[in-house]
Amino acid sequence: MFQAPRGTQDTLPGEQPYWHFVRKKAEEIASLYGYRRIDTPTFEDSGLFTRTVGAGTDIVEKEMYTFTDLGGGQVPLRPEGTAPVCRAYIEHGMANLPQPVKMYYLSSIFRYERPQAGRLREHHQFGFEAIGEAGASLDAEVIDMAWRLYASLGLKDFKLKINSIGCPECRPVYIGALRKYFEALPLCSDCTVRIQKNTLRLLDCKNPSCQAQAQEAPQSVDYLCTGCAEHFRDLKRYLEMLGLPFEMDPGMVRGLDYYTRTVFEIQPLEEGGQSTIGGGGRYDGLIEEIGGKPTPGVGFATGMERIILHLKRQGVKVPDLPGPRVFIAWAGEKARQEAMALSQRLRTEGIGNITPFSPRSLKAQLRAANSQGCAYTVIIGDEELAKSGVTLRNMETASQEEVPADALVAKLKLEKL
Ligand code: HAM
Repeated sequence: MFQAPRGTQDTLPGEQPYWHFVRKKAEEIASLYGYRRIDTPTFEDSGLFTRTVGAGTDIVEKEMYTFTDLGGGQVPLRPEGTAPVCRAYIEHGMANLPQPVKMYYLSSIFRYERPQAGRLREHHQFGFEAIGEAGASLDAEVIDMAWRLYASLGLKDFKLKINSIGCPECRPVYIGALRKYFEALPLCSDCTVRIQKNTLRLLDCKNPSCQAQAQEAPQSVDYLCTGCAEHFRDLKRYLEMLGLPFEMDPGMVRGLDYYTRTVFEIQPLEEGGQSTIGGGGRYDGLIEEIGGKPTPGVGFATGMERIILHLKRQGVKVPDLPGPRVFIAWAGEKARQEAMALSQRLRTEGIGNITPFSPRSLKAQLRAANSQGCAYTVIIGDEELAKSGVTLRNMETASQEEVPADALVAKLKLEKL
């Protein structure tokens, strides 16, 4: 017996109302803030992620699904969505468009992680990126949009955490202080390597004893240069002005190297950082790093599966996805042919319907119509054929009426099915 690979899942038809609901809301919110959709390939050049997410991060070091293609190239499946969007921004000359360029995506993301509830090896993200503007008011707008998304889905009990991790000007001094602090402490084997290669990553090591030490580590906010300090102060002022409650989290650096200045996460109130529902930040150096002109950017992404998990936990009801509203029941070979032709005619008229493919009793057909949520059943038997008509049964009231065949379409159209 084959099963879906570990850490992946089938989204069965019964689950689709959740996905449809979330996607629809995400797209509505995106358009409300002026974002347009972008789709990028599932796989990219391997250098794209090493250069941006960073060679020393868990994502690149331990979690990328990289395969060798038939030409011998090393090809990773997309482990995140920001770098591909920035690559597309450069490749398609979007610097010539009015800035910022605002784009959103709904993409599958691949990370070789230890699967558990809300942690998959293939997950899906709704993400959005605003490229070409450095001001903190854009960071505030991005956070406002993320916050509004959850609220509009009916989710509650989340907190917003923010931090600033500085820029290439002020970060080296901070990194120096961080290294000095950690050098005096026992480290896990990963961190012993990271302390030289990528000191910031010591702050998001998953090892519990490293995590405890990280709590007491120097904080980036105390080392910000004037520009970064002003940017962070502006961000906080704009968030207050927009009425978005936030908490400072001076230890939060996020697991991707490309961030500069603002980083933020949205987490459920009662759980820790492990169950973060969405996160993002500013990445002012990313585009230059992959060959573009210096261009600032800021964005956010949230996991669809995690959203759906919280919708279920919080008992949020999502609208059903109604199937065809008309069932065509038939008895006998002649009636079957009549039903097939009628089914086709109704579909041409935009009226969705289903009809059985093999003979069944009328009772069984009515049961099927009911269980599939049909509002009407059209019944065709010998009697109806003799009168060139059909019987139309309202499934809710069980009332029936005879309708001439040529009046049926108009009648069903009036019902606005
Ligand atoms: P990230 O925090 O790595 O950020 O992922 C964003 C969101 O994707 C997480 O908050 C979580 O909801 C979901 N997620 C991540 N990993 C998994 C997983 N293994 N299983 C299920 N859900 C998961 C980024 O990827 C950045 N590109 C976000 C960003 C956009 N920053 C700027 N622009």
